[in-house]
Amino acid sequence: MNWIKACKDMGDAAVCFQKELCFSKEPQRVEATVTAMGVYNLLVGGKKMGDQVLTPGWTSYHERIQSKTYDITEALKESKTVAIEVGRGWGVGTIGFTHNEHFYDDTLRATAKITAYFEDGSFEMIETDESWDCYTHPVTYTDIYNGEIWDGTLIPQCIGKAVHSEKSYPVVDQIGEDIKPQERLKPIEVITTPKGEKVLDFGQNMTGWIELAVKGEKGAVIAFDHGEVLDKEGNFYNDNYRSAKTYAKFILSGEQETLAPHFTFYGFRYIRLSEYPFEEVDPKQFTAVAVHSDMKRTGDFHCGNALINQLYHNVIWGQKSNYLDVPTDCPQRDERLGWTGDAQVFCRTAAINYHVEKFFKKWLGDMAIEQWEEGQVEGIVPRAMYKGRTRVSAAWGDAACICPWEIYLAYGNKEMLQEHFPMMKKWVDYMHGAGSEEFLWLDGRHYGDWLAMDAGDGIYMGATPTHMIGTAFFAYSCSLVVKAGKELGEDVSDYEALYKNVVAKFRECYIEDGKPCERGAALKNVYPADRKPPVINPDTQTARVLMLHFNLCEEKDRAGLAKQLADMVVANGTHLTTGFVGTPYLLHALSDNGYGKLAYDLLLQESFPSWLFSVKQGATTMWEHWDGIKEDGSFWSTDMNSYNHYAYGSVFDWIFGKAAGIQIEKPAYEEVKIAPIPDARMGHMTASIETRFGKLLSHWEYRGEKVLYRFEIPAGITAKIALPDGREETVGEGIYMY
Ligand code: BGC
Repeated sequence: MNWIKACKDMGDAAVCFQKELCFSKEPQRVEATVTAMGVYNLLVGGKKMGDQVLTPGWTSYHERIQSKTYDITEALKESKTVAIEVGRGWGVGTIGFTHNEHFYDDTLRATAKITAYFEDGSFEMIETDESWDCYTHPVTYTDIYNGEIWDGTLIPQCIGKAVHSEKSYPVVDQIGEDIKPQERLKPIEVITTPKGEKVLDFGQNMTGWIELAVKGEKGAVIAFDHGEVLDKEGNFYNDNYRSAKTYAKFILSGEQETLAPHFTFYGFRYIRLSEYPFEEVDPKQFTAVAVHSDMKRTGDFHCGNALINQLYHNVIWGQKSNYLDVPTDCPQRDERLGWTGDAQVFCRTAAINYHVEKFFKKWLGDMAIEQWEEGQVEGIVPRAMYKGRTRVSAAWGDAACICPWEIYLAYGNKEMLQEHFPMMKKWVDYMHGAGSEEFLWLDGRHYGDWLAMDAGDGIYMGATPTHMIGTAFFAYSCSLVVKAGKELGEDVSDYEALYKNVVAKFRECYIEDGKPCERGAALKNVYPADRKPPVINPDTQTARVLMLHFNLCEEKDRAGLAKQLADMVVANGTHLTTGFVGTPYLLHALSDNGYGKLAYDLLLQESFPSWLFSVKQGATTMWEHWDGIKEDGSFWSTDMNSYNHYAYGSVFDWIFGKAAGIQIEKPAYEEVKIAPIPDARMGHMTASIETRFGKLLSHWEYRGEKVLYRFEIPAGITAKIALPDGREETVGEGIYMY
């Protein structure tokens, strides 16, 4: 396709490429295929085409940029003016925590192919070229992290003709979901803070923007910035956004108008008005618009415990907030990046809540593109920093195996598994070749059990040795390659042998007398100066969780390790110490080994650290840190303290899969096991998922001491029902009550 750029440097402002279309005769149908470097909207006669926003989304732009084809036949009957407005977005603005401006490109570029089809079967094509005009745009500043300025007094001026772009990008048809405005929330309160600032509370932490419906004097300004929480005095706070300024500024045109940012988004619950031209704040002018990928909701959950229902709400909003085209860590600070570790941790939960097949198809495609020749997968996809800037870490890079496998389990799409199979193998091959020991992953820079609390205060990486985690995930990913290969009819005998060797080596080096240890070849690992024992310690909850959940221990050691884990949890006042690596599997490791009640004790724990601690503190999304807001109301350091990080929301895969008991036995839920673990403290529980075959539901409720069960199985699903009292039955379509 033919790419164009503006005739001058637009700086931080948006630009509009425009053309009057003229065809030799009246077309029957007109289609426009469009994309841009930056973020664009297609307009006909000033009217935006389609309801998707932030197009073309974020991909590994150098390798592929998504285009969309719009039917503009009807719109052209009103006006022949076609325009593509382009702002900086991910491609040209600031991106990555090292604050790279222009990481992909320093220039806004666009390309379009407009095809008119005539009744006689002929067609004419108009492409972006030097005949298009360049106009200034009322968005005079735009940046993903910093926000946007809209100048409604600016009358767009033609500044010359577009210039042929020397640079072009490989264009592909859209692969992922559209990004769309999804929900609209009104302020629940206008607050005057102790500092005297005017703050609007929308009652929900979220991702999107504020829409203004307003009429003011020409040139009057409404400006605000965004925040997730108030500080303990009740003042506006967003120091945790780090360098991201996240402001919005609107210069009013003087007319009645509806205004919203065009090329950016914000993570927020509150806004603080810094400029406002009216006497009284009118909350009716403000609407918060939640924006995310247009995924179909599939999961539903409800139980008799209000705090757990709120936790579920927070998990859902964590996903809404962070599934904006790529699975991001958080939506507010100067990251909003496709962190691979976070994505794999939450992937199963995500695929219960929403239909995320297309969403992952695109992101995993970019992961495969960015995988290094030798198989490494970095911390972030798509890349937002120079190659090698993020770590090639265990549990992060393993997203290359875990996500394709989980998505296959959820939807049974063999073609997609086949597409990602080479990436899975390459990742395992990389671990196999990394370092001096063939069956251990001793070296490398890892993120470890990120944010675990067992290595002392203020330490990010947790105590569990990173090479122990590395080898555990080496085995786990290898097992997934074997499973995937078997589904695909591939010969995976080499990987089967490799798996056995890695597990054997793991046992030899990390388990002694039925307890976690480091010995033998594992001692060859050289710790960096700040990561030496006692900071590093294999005697952790996470070590045991991995041994149990990844089946790394010998069967004779299982009961002992599970007991040690349970004892450690109890000795810690029924509290977890796990981080990103251990937490997702902790409750599974307990309930799968006879400690179902203790798993509930942890789930229902309200004091720090626990899932319900943040709920009790008023959270409406998941927090990055167990103590994002501490008991005394103070904050974790501004360094890294997001209130919208979905990773710990992965607890829902335990609630759905173990508490409600719905487990996939054959991909796409064609065969399931329903083995619920009821607990009187929950009163009742109903979990359901809209599968390809229809709605699958598990319900239980306490009637006094007695537990009643109801399962709904749609046609096409075979369910093995297994109740705690030993009753078992394999059933097909129907409603079953016990
Ligand atoms: C992100 C995490 C991520 C991590 C790597 C952070 O800055 O927000 O969620 O996984 O870095 O350890």
